[in-house]
Amino acid sequence: MPSEEMIALARTVMERAYAPYSSFRVGAVLRGGNGKLYAGCNVENAAYPQGTCAEVAAIAVMVADGERRIVEALVMGEGESLIAPCGGCRQHLSEFAAAAVPVHLCDPTGVRRTITMGELLPLAFGAASLAGPGHDDGG
Ligand code: THU
Repeated sequence: MPSEEMIALARTVMERAYAPYSSFRVGAVLRGGNGKLYAGCNVENAAYPQGTCAEVAAIAVMVADGERRIVEALVMGEGESLIAPCGGCRQHLSEFAAAAVPVHLCDPTGVRRTITMGELLPLAFGAASLAGPGHDDGG
């Protein structure tokens, strides 16, 4: 289970989300390999495709702090249905989170379900997929 601190931080940043177009606020909190928590929220834009997801925002904060390993992730959304990271965010998380990393899917009251990164994105395309024979180096 995530710490109370992790859940409270997700709630705080979710409430700060800028989502005037969808009215769907999302908060994401990542625990880095260094133990620190990194948080982000979705930020929408009048030019809709320019909006950014909470997970991507949290990853940027983590990387800017010099950390590149996610050991625990939490995503919080409002509403009736279970929040699960969108396909693009699964790929973004997978860049820094191993298959065994727990991902807590939360509503504002707490955890509704916990799954692993590997369950969230099976057969992930990653750095290892680029290695080996068949790689076109353009030469
Ligand atoms: N959203 C996220 O922030 N993360 C997700 O994984 C799913 C979707 C945001 C994007 C948009 O601002 C709003 O939720 C509705 O799609």
